[in-house]
Formats: sequence, structure tokens, C-alpha cells
Amino acid sequence: MSNDGVNVGRRRFLVAATSVVGAAGAVGAAVPFVGSWFPSAKAKAAGAPVKVNVSKIGPGQQIVAEWRGQPVFIVRRTEETLANLKKVESAVADPDSAASVQPAYVDRKLRSIKPEILVLVGLCTHLGCAPSFRPELAPADLGADWMGGYFCPCHGSKYDLAGRVYKAQPAPLNLPVPPHTYESDDVIIVGVDQEKA
Ligand code: FES
Repeated sequence: MSNDGVNVGRRRFLVAATSVVGAAGAVGAAVPFVGSWFPSAKAKAAGAPVKVNVSKIGPGQQIVAEWRGQPVFIVRRTEETLANLKKVESAVADPDSAASVQPAYVDRKLRSIKPEILVLVGLCTHLGCAPSFRPELAPADLGADWMGGYFCPCHGSKYDLAGRVYKAQPAPLNLPVPPHTYESDDVIIVGVDQEKA
């Protein structure tokens, strides 16, 4: 590029920069603080509810949605999985979710509105890593007693398939259940509370 080109480009930049300062000054004087009254469109989108169609989740499978920048795990549990949750009750730290975070309208043991559809914030309650979905029974690395659940790769916390943390893990609490509601049989909205029946 020649010097001429650089100088022309620089002049254009200076003119543009001056105009922007002038415009910002005028707007600032006329409408002070307006930016702090209304959240930006980006901020609104970041906190907006998220619709998820759960009809395509096969039995025993999980999909991951995103809500407020966090992973949200959505699992279709089988009858066998639901039965296995009872078997691990004495091994989990807070089987009735007394100390854990979930909306009042979810079942405290199953931690869901409908038994088969589990919705969890996918961040470990120890230091916030994303736990891995490990639905298989008795895999070699997790042991013969493993009934399916979540395993956190950071420091090894284990959760069952209701997001309930096992005893004596680094993680202190069950995985949180976010507010959610059913728009229809197949569509849930994460980030909106279910209306009272
Ligand atoms: S962040 Fe999951 S065990 Fe530490």
C-alpha cells in the first residue's frame, strides 16, 4: 500500500471518529442514562426462555439445550431408570432434595414434572464443570454398582439420573432443576415457571 493510501485512510478514520464523538455527545446530553434503564436486545436474548421439542429424545437418551449461557440436560428416562432411582436412594446425599435447588412444582425425588422427562442445569455443584452423561449400567470405569447417572470429569463427583449427588463427593448439592413448563406434550419452555394447576 502507498503512503497516499495510508494517509487517505487515516484522514477518513479521523473524520469518522470525530463524527461519532459529536453524535455521542449530543445523544448523551439529550437523553441521559437511557442505556441503564433498558436492557439491550443482546442482554434480553441471553436471559430469554428457550423452547425445546422433546419428542425426538429416544428412551434413555439426552439432549443438551442452552439457557442463559448454561447447558441444560434433558433426558427421557425409562421405566427401568425410574425404578433404579429407588435402589440408589440410600447412597445419595440428599434423596429428597431438601437442600438442593429446584422449583416447588417438581417432585423432590424424581426431580421432574413428568416422571420420564428430566431437566437439569448441567453444571457440577462443586466448581461448575459440565458432568458427563453416563446412562449405562455397571461400566468398567464406574463400577458394578453404577445405575446410570452423571460423572464430573474435573474432580470425580457422581450423580444419579435424577441429578442427585452421591454421598462423600466433592460436590455438595444435587444438580439444580431450572424453572420450566410444558407448552404442549412435546414442547417444554426452559426459563418459565409452570402455572399452578
Ligand atoms: S467441578 Fe465437578 S467435581 Fe469438581
